[in-house]
Amino acid sequence: MIQFKNVQIKYGDFTAFDNLNLTVGDGEFFTFLGPSGCGKTTALRALVGFLTPTAGEITLDGKDLIQVPVEKRGIGMVFQSYALFPTMTVYENLAFGLKVKKMASSEIDKRVREAAETVAIRDEQLVRNVSELSGGQQQRVALARAIVLEPKILCLDEPLSNLDAKLRVSLRGELKRLQKNLGITTLYVTHDQEEALTLSDKVAVFNNGTVEQVGTPQEIYDHSKTEFVCDFIGDINKLGVKAISQLNKVGASLDVKRHAYIRLERIHFEPGPGYLKLSGKVINFDYNGITTKYHVDTYGEVVRVIQVNDGRPIYKNGEKIDMYLDPDDIMQY
Ligand SMILES: Nc1ncnc2c1ncn2[C@@H]1O[C@H](COP(=O)(O)OP(=O)(O)OP(=O)(O)O)[C@@H](O)[C@H]1O
Ligand SMILES: [Mg+2]
Repeated sequence: MIQFKNVQIKYGDFTAFDNLNLTVGDGEFFTFLGPSGCGKTTALRALVGFLTPTAGEITLDGKDLIQVPVEKRGIGMVFQSYALFPTMTVYENLAFGLKVKKMASSEIDKRVREAAETVAIRDEQLVRNVSELSGGQQQRVALARAIVLEPKILCLDEPLSNLDAKLRVSLRGELKRLQKNLGITTLYVTHDQEEALTLSDKVAVFNNGTVEQVGTPQEIYDHSKTEFVCDFIGDINKLGVKAISQLNKVGASLDVKRHAYIRLERIHFEPGPGYLKLSGKVINFDYNGITTKYHVDTYGEVVRVIQVNDGRPIYKNGEKIDMYLDPDDIMQY
């Protein structure tokens, strides 16, 4: 178990974290999610040992880590840019850390080949220069270089950010399988909420040096604790005063002074038990095969609704539409 307890981290006069508290369980895939500059990399660097907190404790299984030198912490790290040795071959990159440890060359060879196999790097690619590899292959090498050292903990800082969308999704799936197979406690940094929801056992949502919420992907998405979390995770409608007042007329008891949000997929086109009706007119729609996203004018406001194209007719611009909302799906802050 990894714990950050009342951790303060400063860069000169600037306080990146004043009081960071987090607990990461053994074998967990734990993600730091948040916008650029919120402190994700900083928190990870403190755990790895590249930064020393100005106050507080970081512990591993109850033992203080801050006094332990970087190379003795047993933490593997893949950086935001993969930082491979560009003039070395893939094999040399993977073997480097083991050579530093003065391991016998037969053992090094065995481990390098195993690690390469784990991330689907083929034998003939081992002898190539890393500069001859594609971005996705380099990403795998970076990952293999971290796991070849058999770390207890793996820290990955936006490891998929330099890849195209399709490769990112496919490597994401591989990473998840790999992590579960190896069972390594993994701390993962991303600003991509979809990536965080897909990969993680637990997500910590960071905002400007504070942790707004820690929870499972579903807890974060369905029960967002703060307005920041609710707005940052997934696409969402912010309802204006007019829509809120109209919902109150048909039976809701919403506070007009607070902000109200509802997810796009939680607005239905059929009534249900206790649902509230909102009528409107389609002003635009985005058809993408699997789903259609409607932009609906309701009482002078635009709400967006997403529907699965399961054979039902597609509404056209100008058509009247009745929408039904479960009051439990409306989040107020
Ligand atoms: N070496 C440094 N010296 C001074 N300030 C720094 C330093 N590194 C980071 N910061 C500041 O600390 C804050 C957190 O930075 P950090 O790199 O941890 O953010 P991040 O969440 O990883 O962002 P990104 O998603 O852009 O990588 C930012 O305001 C940043 O400007
Ligand atoms: Mg960063």
